[in-house]
Amino acid sequence: MECDIRDAALADRGRARILWADRHMPVLASIRSRFERDKPLKGIRMGACLHVTTETANLMRTLVAGGAQVALCASNPLSTQDDVAASLARDFGVSVFAIKGEDNATYYRHLASVLDSKPMITMDDGADLVSLAHGDRRDALQTILAGTEETTTGVIRLQSMAKHGVLAYPIVAVNEAMTKHFFDNRYGTGQSTLDGVIRATNILLAGATVVVAGYGWCGKGVAMRAKGMGAHVIITEVNPVKAIEAIMDGFLVQPMAEAAGVGDLFITVTGNKHVIRTEHFLAMKDGAIVCNSGHFNVELQLEGGLYDIAVSKTAVRDFVEEFALPNGRKIYLLAEGRLVNLSAAEGHPAVVMDMSFANQALSAEWILQHRASLGKSVHVIPEEIDVEIARIKLDTLGYRMDTLTEEQRRYLASWQEGT
Ligand code: ADE
Repeated sequence: MECDIRDAALADRGRARILWADRHMPVLASIRSRFERDKPLKGIRMGACLHVTTETANLMRTLVAGGAQVALCASNPLSTQDDVAASLARDFGVSVFAIKGEDNATYYRHLASVLDSKPMITMDDGADLVSLAHGDRRDALQTILAGTEETTTGVIRLQSMAKHGVLAYPIVAVNEAMTKHFFDNRYGTGQSTLDGVIRATNILLAGATVVVAGYGWCGKGVAMRAKGMGAHVIITEVNPVKAIEAIMDGFLVQPMAEAAGVGDLFITVTGNKHVIRTEHFLAMKDGAIVCNSGHFNVELQLEGGLYDIAVSKTAVRDFVEEFALPNGRKIYLLAEGRLVNLSAAEGHPAVVMDMSFANQALSAEWILQHRASLGKSVHVIPEEIDVEIARIKLDTLGYRMDTLTEEQRRYLASWQEGT
């Protein structure tokens, strides 16, 4: 089995951590047991481009249990957990091509290695594998039947490809499942982003002014958790509806040009480009900390921005770089502007990834069952599957809920009964 990993000797530690995460992923474990018995993915080659974490490892185990042959590369050069990569290769029969800190050339070589395995289903987080298969590696399209996409940023890219008629195979947008974005994007990003900031810097959030750019599900989670830890939170937005939501959730909303001068910590989660630019860096206070938790490292203007105006750059801690500006102030950049939650911490906790990756596993099965009727567009996983995941999750969390009585069911289906 082909692999390119940092160090095979890390496998024992990786295995122990994968099994720890598995304790918090009961929905995925139940799917894995059924997959082991029924083998719904038998004979299917799968190519995955995901953050190589303990949670992803449990998804890979599930696909292998279902009979798939799996090749995996990283969906970000800094998010790989090298011990997990080692264990996946040694213990779980996965071809892994991922090394934490790999340069861009290696990152793309690893994507190409996954396409070399001639996948029939792609599983992306950010659509880099799909993009490569539609660009320099169109040969891969000969074997690909369909794919799945994990994240908002990837779904936006794929919808644009479908709209322009260039998407060559159907994709299931896992992100659109309720059991994915309501939980992973909000509670997962909320906690893991602050975890990344705290591990990198050890700053106190109580009393700090935190500027969160973007009030989508991820921004909501980050803002809510920062507020919970005692920070004063300012939201920047371009969408008036989301701006009102932020105001009524109790936050101050300001343009970045105003927030730049008052923030102690800046976190971008917009999915858009150059949200913090040269003029904002120059307006920041001495000691301001800047990071990104959106999928791509484009939200901060670094090339043509911070990197160009800085008079010096010094590494001060793991994942913290100091930039001295011509105005005499110093700005601190975390994790080179890449996803701070996966670079400086471990990504979302297993409890939420359980539901996200249950959707991934069931989407792979659903694609195979329905592939004859799926158009070359972006599909949403059926609501019954989504609700079934929620039902199992609720049950495994140890909670019960009410069910509709027959009278209530009839009432909801009727229109005659009024005052
Ligand atoms: N995306 C965010 N957190 C993640 C995790 N723990 N594993 C895989 N992908 C992630």
